[in-house]
Amino acid sequence: MLPRPDEPHVWWLPSGELTGAGQIVSADETQRARRFTSHPDRSRFLEGRTFLRLVLGSYAGVPPPADLRFESGTYGKPRLQRGMADLDFSFSRTPGLFAVAISTGGRVGLDLEAKNRLQHARRALQRALSPQDASLPAFRGGDDLDVLVENWVAKEALLKAVGLGFTREPRELRLGSGVGEKRFLWRPLELDPDFGKSSWTVISLSIVPGYACAVAKEGHAKDVVVNRYLR
Ligand SMILES: CC(C)(COP(=O)(O)OP(=O)(O)OC[C@H]1O[C@@H](n2cnc3c(N)ncnc32)[C@H](O)[C@@H]1OP(=O)(O)O)[C@@H](O)C(=O)NCCC(=O)NCCS
Repeated sequence: MLPRPDEPHVWWLPSGELTGAGQIVSADETQRARRFTSHPDRSRFLEGRTFLRLVLGSYAGVPPPADLRFESGTYGKPRLQRGMADLDFSFSRTPGLFAVAISTGGRVGLDLEAKNRLQHARRALQRALSPQDASLPAFRGGDDLDVLVENWVAKEALLKAVGLGFTREPRELRLGSGVGEKRFLWRPLELDPDFGKSSWTVISLSIVPGYACAVAKEGHAKDVVVNRYLR
């Protein structure tokens, strides 16, 4: 069943669990996989795309996962080709884990990060704070890794929802005191053509210890339904 507009779904999967990964991907995806020089990276890419296809296939119903066709927005946000299913989705991979968010009634973005991978990226995480946010009590000092990572995944989720990714500087988004909350409403301070007039709901998820995850949903969302994917 499709998610309710105010309740996006998230599916997650530890990497290395999908056997036969790569059998249902397209020629295009196989081509992309070939560009990875290391075998583990190639396998991880194919496993992620297989997982994404299986999840989307379970919502789209018809056609089967192998026949799903994607198209891309200007900066690469994938969507299902017109007529396949009326939903938005956002996929993320990080060492050890994959996740995908599915929504109806508005755009969705998801970001997932293995925290240990970011331990040495403190500078980049600090640069992602807007000047105003950097002066908030939660960020003062800028050395609480958990809060910095929460800020990062929330912003990446918002930027992925609208398809901009890092073509926009994360520090341009001012989240205010919402970071650190399990769920908060966010609205750009000025009219922003990419984010539109609506408010956005940002929800922080604790899927697995050691990982940070955020979902950004256009409009109101009361919660997220989280499921571990089992084949
Ligand atoms: C979107 C972006 C932040 C994702 O970064 P990442 O480190 O690969 O992170 P994640 O694992 O969380 O996300 C990867 C997935 O995001 C999705 N994605 C790609 N571009 C996207 C975009 N512009 N907006 C939203 N989602 C996007 C894809 O599903 C991708 O999975 P794939 O590699 O299997 O195709 C980064 O790719 C980006 O900034 N892209 C926009 C700018 C750019 O480089 N465009 C190049 C093509 S024009």
